[in-house]
Amino acid sequence: MAPPQEPQQCLALTHPLQEVAKSDAVPRTLHDLVARIHDELGPDGGLDSEHIDANRIIALMESYNSNAEDWEQYAMFDHSRAYTRNLVDDGNGKFNLMILAWSKGQQSPIHDHAGSHCVMKILDGKLQESLFDWPDMSDQESVATDMCDITTARKLDVCPKTGVCLTKQRETIYGADQVTYVHDKIGLHRISNPSGERGAVSLHLYTPPYETCKTFEEQTGRARSSGKCSFYSVGGRRSI
Ligand SMILES: [Fe+2]
Repeated sequence: MAPPQEPQQCLALTHPLQEVAKSDAVPRTLHDLVARIHDELGPDGGLDSEHIDANRIIALMESYNSNAEDWEQYAMFDHSRAYTRNLVDDGNGKFNLMILAWSKGQQSPIHDHAGSHCVMKILDGKLQESLFDWPDMSDQESVATDMCDITTARKLDVCPKTGVCLTKQRETIYGADQVTYVHDKIGLHRISNPSGERGAVSLHLYTPPYETCKTFEEQTGRARSSGKCSFYSVGGRRSI
C-alpha cells in the first residue's frame, strides 16, 4: 500500500543502529531482516500497538540494503491489477511482512491502517506517498449523501472551488532503500507508482497485522470498508 512536503510527519531516526538492534549485525539479507523483526516484535511485542517503538522498526528496515536476489521470488507482477500483495512472513500473528509489486503508473486508494504501524521500504523503482488529513468523521453521513457541495467542503475546511475534500499534507517520492512510516495518528495515505514505464517493488511491515481497513474518496472524504485484504501469493507461491 501508496503510498507522497510540508510538515515532515515521518518519525525521525533517533536511534543509532547499534542501539536499535538486539544483535549487532546489520541484516545482510531479507531473511536476516525477518529474523531481526521477529526478535524485535515477538514474543512480547507487536500485539499492543501502543507499546511498539516505531523508530526501532524503521531503523531495522533502513538497515537492510535491497538485493533483488532476496526478494524477486515474492515480487509477482500482475499488470491487470494496480498492485499485488505478496506475503513474506506472518510474524506468528504479531506482524505481516509483505512485498507489493506495483504496475506502471498505478496507485492504491487513499486508506487508513486500522490502528497499525505501517513501515514501507522501497526495494526497486520509485513510489510516491500522498499524505492526507483525516476527514471530519462526524460529517461522514452528510458527506456520503451530499457529495462534495460547498456546505460539505466548508465543514471539512477545504477549498470549495476545487471540491477536494481531503486535505493533502504532502507528497513525497521515495527511491530505492528509502523508508517511510505512517500510522492513523499521522493521517491517511495513497501510494502511487509515478512511472509510466516501469514497475516498482516495496516491502511493507504492518504491526499488528490487519485484514480490513478503510478507503476514502478524495473528492468527498467518504469512507468505506476495503473488504478483506487478500494475498496474491504466500511464501513465494500464488494463492489466488
Ligand atoms: Fe498504506
